[in-house]
Amino acid sequence: MSSIGRIITTIRAIRQCPNLFFFTAHRSLALTYDDITLATLYSEILPRDTQLDIQLAEGLNLNIPVIAADMDTVTEARMAIAMALNGGLGLIHYNMPEKQQLSELSRVKNHVHGLIQDPIKVAPEQLVGDVLEMIEKRKFAFGTFPVVDADGRLVGLLSGHVVKPRYAKRKVAEALTPRNQVHTIKQNELGTNPIARADKFFTDHPGIHKLLVVDEEDRLRGLFTMSDVERITQERSAQFKPARDSRFRLLCGAAVSATRNAFGDLDRERILAHVQALVERGVDVVAVSTAHGYSKGVGETVKMLRDALPRLPLIAGNVTSAAGVEYLADCGANAVKVGQGPGSICTTRIVAGVGIPQLTALHVCSRAAEQKGVTIIADGGITKSGDIVKALTLAHAVICGGLFAGCPEAPGQMMEIGGKLYKQYRGMGSVAAMKAGSAARYGHLTDNTQKLAPEGVEALKEVSPSLDLVLTQLIGGIQSGLGYLGAANLAQLREKARYIRVSPAGMREAAPHDVVEVKTGS
Ligand code: XMP
Repeated sequence: MSSIGRIITTIRAIRQCPNLFFFTAHRSLALTYDDITLATLYSEILPRDTQLDIQLAEGLNLNIPVIAADMDTVTEARMAIAMALNGGLGLIHYNMPEKQQLSELSRVKNHVHGLIQDPIKVAPEQLVGDVLEMIEKRKFAFGTFPVVDADGRLVGLLSGHVVKPRYAKRKVAEALTPRNQVHTIKQNELGTNPIARADKFFTDHPGIHKLLVVDEEDRLRGLFTMSDVERITQERSAQFKPARDSRFRLLCGAAVSATRNAFGDLDRERILAHVQALVERGVDVVAVSTAHGYSKGVGETVKMLRDALPRLPLIAGNVTSAAGVEYLADCGANAVKVGQGPGSICTTRIVAGVGIPQLTALHVCSRAAEQKGVTIIADGGITKSGDIVKALTLAHAVICGGLFAGCPEAPGQMMEIGGKLYKQYRGMGSVAAMKAGSAARYGHLTDNTQKLAPEGVEALKEVSPSLDLVLTQLIGGIQSGLGYLGAANLAQLREKARYIRVSPAGMREAAPHDVVEVKTGS
């Protein structure tokens, strides 16, 4: 192409994407969040009226564009439940036996969805002590159980009031509320809106908190609890509703790696069998999650899953180049994770000398994603709500690890050091995490831990308030950002955003300065 031709093509491209000019002007300098600020624009939009819903893939819709990282100190069932209840998503990490990942997923999918279709039951001949033991072992947060006979027919209800150590030696049959005193509804009487039906029942029957569903033969088919029904009824008026699937269950994702067998080949059978088991339990998205997504193993894994499960939403990564996005999109990924080395616990750039500052990486990846019709997720390096707003000018959602690792919903115990409370937060490429199983993510084997080259650190995070509170702050910040740019939703944010490079003095000016801070902004 002649130089005039090139200039014309560039002008056309800049017209279509005005921010291209900004990144072209800074092409010899890779930028990250703190290097830029967003220009304010004329606005008729109030922050509280902005919408944050996003479709990451067909069948994968979030009400807020925030995902909890698939890290062993961030996301297991408890975090995934809290994320989905707030409208986002948790990706259950894979540093655990496959069986355990399946049961973590089940805990999320069985959380509150109005009608519990397969409630935990007990048998009349069991002892109350056996039930107490089961509650302790399986960490149930409830103590009332339907009692059924060997044919699944309802015999009664074992109320939480009698599941006490003082009755441990009694048989369930002696302690239960008998069948004729248990409130039930026939399955075929539920109609098209079972929650409304149960809601009316609880209003009509003060003091009754459980409604059992039975079939024509009086076999147990489900259970409503008043607290679940109330929560669901209340959430209908919330601005950011929980993220739920078509069966009203909370959304949940799971991460897998491109596992290799003893011969170093991709362990296709094992990966596929596990993902199929995840699908059977209702997983909403699977993330093929590795440090280097633009690689044969990851591509082949994505291709295999896409062929076997054409409708399963797939996230794959991580990449930082347009070619990486194109490769994974061609292999069948719906969403691509972008980020190599920006994370708060990452040392990839120091150890491997590789990676691209996050804003520039997002820019190059976003252009390729648009052409390929896939979405991108900004993964790592987010330390404040302003970073999320900046990320969302290019990406469709963000993944956060460090921001959530101090929450009570993250796995791990609190520890006290010098009067302050902390929780462990470690990189999945740290020695401890790789020994626990994540070495494949970084292309290492675990058989000789001395040879592992760590790409992450083990760290501590100060304990933070509940995830609900942390997310409330973050969401408020994102909504403010949209308000300043006159963007009513995330699509308009991506369209309207204009960047301005910040000088070191500008960066200092951006944070509190020349004051003695007595209370932090968070
Ligand atoms: P933040 O900044 O949210 O980053 O704490 C979380 C993201 O960091 C990635 N990750 C790692 N990257 N070495 C790395 O280079 C590691 O050990 C490591 N562990 C996690 C991952 O993408 C995560 O979502």
